[in-house]
Amino acid sequence: MIAHGVSGLMRPLLSGPNVSKIRFIYLCGVTEQHHAPAKQGSKRGFSTTRKLWDTPGEPSSAGQVTVHFINRDGERLTATAKEGESLLEVVVNQNLAIDGFGACEGTLACSTCHLIFEKDTFQKLETISDEELDMLDLAYGLTETSRLGCQVRVKKWMDGLTVQVPTDVSDIRRQLEVGKQSKQ
Ligand code: FES
Repeated sequence: MIAHGVSGLMRPLLSGPNVSKIRFIYLCGVTEQHHAPAKQGSKRGFSTTRKLWDTPGEPSSAGQVTVHFINRDGERLTATAKEGESLLEVVVNQNLAIDGFGACEGTLACSTCHLIFEKDTFQKLETISDEELDMLDLAYGLTETSRLGCQVRVKKWMDGLTVQVPTDVSDIRRQLEVGKQSKQ
């Protein structure tokens, strides 16, 4: 609920009054919070995402960019990304052990790819869409420099970038499931 409060403060600064169906269901009181176990070497949750981005043997002329993720337990994960990849694709393609990350496979339906950027970096990112803002509203631990990893593409200037993975993660699709069951 803290995140929701922060969201309420942040949203008027960043977007127009676009209200999604998903948010309507959320505001009806259907909430569930998942605390990631944050164990080193733990398996990725929602592992079905991996195959969508695996392109073994595909040649690439894109530049290589080093990106660091500070995991939920404080562990630093370092990946070599390609320009043009989303940060979600970096996590999935390199099989970084971030629990629950990218549950909707980048379709803007879950907010599990929530990442927190340093202020200077955040200000250089491409403009945020209303659809991303809608989904960010549902993320736990929302900050003024939060973005969704599936919507941020790696650029050359990001070399050495460090992003924080929030301690808590929420998957709106599970909230919707809980909502359906409570009405039965
Ligand atoms: Fe679901 Fe980004 S992966 S919103």
